[in-house]
Amino acid sequence: DRKIKIAPSILSADFANFGQEIRAIEDQGCDWVHVDVMDGHFVPNLTFGPPLLAAIRPHIQTVMDVHLMISPVDAYIDAYAGAGADILTAHLEAGPHIHRTLQAIRAAGCKAGLALNPGTGLDAVPHLLDMIDLVCVMTVNPGFGGQKFIHSQIEKVRSLRAMIGERPIHIEIDGGMTPETAPLMAEAGADVFVAGSGVFKGGSVQNPDVYGENIRAI
Ligand code: DX5
Ligand code: ZN
Repeated sequence: DRKIKIAPSILSADFANFGQEIRAIEDQGCDWVHVDVMDGHFVPNLTFGPPLLAAIRPHIQTVMDVHLMISPVDAYIDAYAGAGADILTAHLEAGPHIHRTLQAIRAAGCKAGLALNPGTGLDAVPHLLDMIDLVCVMTVNPGFGGQKFIHSQIEKVRSLRAMIGERPIHIEIDGGMTPETAPLMAEAGADVFVAGSGVFKGGSVQNPDVYGENIRAI
């Protein structure tokens, strides 16, 4: 379904309180929980491994949407699937064998996502349409929360929507989502909005209503 979904990125949550943070954003009406996995190699930052994902999995009642910013990918697919990911998204730029990677993700029992960096075109997408459930269009260069939205990606999303047509493939936007930028992407054809700083800013587990206000504003 093409209903708009909000997927807060727990990269902007309090790392000492993931259980409570997840409960707070789900109580406040988020649709998915976005988990940013970074390896210090594909991107210049390090975050979560499979044991951390397995630990937070029981706290997630919606959808665990795992964004793998790692290279290589294939050697880790079973571990992240085993940790409970519902969706595993891999980057086209992470290696030469994205087709094999997407096959392996589905074989591991997860929905398969294809992520594209801001500098990457859509040339590969038509060749992968029958093996993906989601395309993640990065609207910042991956690695950090709180960066500025890259406007050139709006036209990319418009072209991507035309390629996908009515196939049941989500278009997810990741990076710099605010109440100002999200509508531009909704109009261009996106349906899943990842937001880290945009959801968590100003709130806390003691003051979770702010998360709800931020979610609704986006
Ligand atoms: C960036 C991550 C994003 C990030 C978004 O590498 O993939 O999911 O957390 O953060 P904001 O919404 O703050 O741009
Ligand atoms: Zn992400």
